[in-house]
Amino acid sequence: MQVDKIESLKSRDFLSLADLTKLEFAELIDSAILLKQNWKAGIRPDALKHKTLAMIFEKQSLRTRSTFDIAMYQLGGHSILLSQNYIGWGVRETIRDVAHNLERWVDGVMARTYGHNTLLELAKHADVPIINGLSDLLHPCQLLADYMALKEHFGSFEGLTLTFVGDGNNVCNSHINAAMLSGVHLRIACPEGFDPNEAILQHALSHGASIEILRDPKEACQGTDAIYTDVWISMGQEEDTERRKLAFADYTISSDWFPLMSKRGVFMHDLPAHYGEECTEEAVYHERSIVFEQAENRLHAQKAVVYHTL
Ligand code: CP
Ligand code: NVA
Repeated sequence: MQVDKIESLKSRDFLSLADLTKLEFAELIDSAILLKQNWKAGIRPDALKHKTLAMIFEKQSLRTRSTFDIAMYQLGGHSILLSQNYIGWGVRETIRDVAHNLERWVDGVMARTYGHNTLLELAKHADVPIINGLSDLLHPCQLLADYMALKEHFGSFEGLTLTFVGDGNNVCNSHINAAMLSGVHLRIACPEGFDPNEAILQHALSHGASIEILRDPKEACQGTDAIYTDVWISMGQEEDTERRKLAFADYTISSDWFPLMSKRGVFMHDLPAHYGEECTEEAVYHERSIVFEQAENRLHAQKAVVYHTL
């Protein structure tokens, strides 16, 4: 089936879900599902023929790196991989100079950074779309794949409750934005001192989002339709490991928690998983887990992002 272009996304940065309208978010999810179905039906589009995506990584990645690369390939374009070691941005040359070089050669840049400001700086100077492949603040591409998985599993977002258990980190912040755009009721269970970004939360609440912060993780999972977790120690926080392990001691999700969920409830994780910390291995491989559907969807979600923006 033809995947209609979302014209309002053309040439736009993809830095935060909060930059999207509810309609753009819904259409992105639907077009990603369609791109997935088309690929599985043997349709081989060449919508991005002769287009190039540069990928810059300050941090490690399996899923984001592989799926953007494959996404470009599956749409007839291609990608080049630039790591901090190659380009030494901000050290060998300024981010502004990197931006003004790359914009002359490529059609878009996907970057994974520590500081979110690095992405903003890149976006300020480059006149090609900049895509957030994860920053310390946000992980919007992950949430596209996750919401694809929710839609595929439940048919719609109507009436869904999702519980995020763990650190109020980049993935959690993007959950807040996704809840704002989808109408999903979001419960966040985190210890005091590990709350999500206050400005992002207040922005979502002031735009009608239904979000609760709870301190008892099991109470937060009562009757929920999805338990979602992520690592306690995000990339760049390694020096804070011991304090975090203590704070999250009651937050290890195993399948013993699953009966707390609604009958249709599922377990979700963005991966990589740190087994014995935020969850057990058997939870990820449990029949109620949709973790690998989420991972599979990263490919098609990235395809939707580059299809509409480049
Ligand atoms: N979930 C995710 O972004 O995985 P990577 O860190 O492997 O890209
Ligand atoms: N919160 C994690 C997500 C990894 C995909 C991190 O930033 O390391």
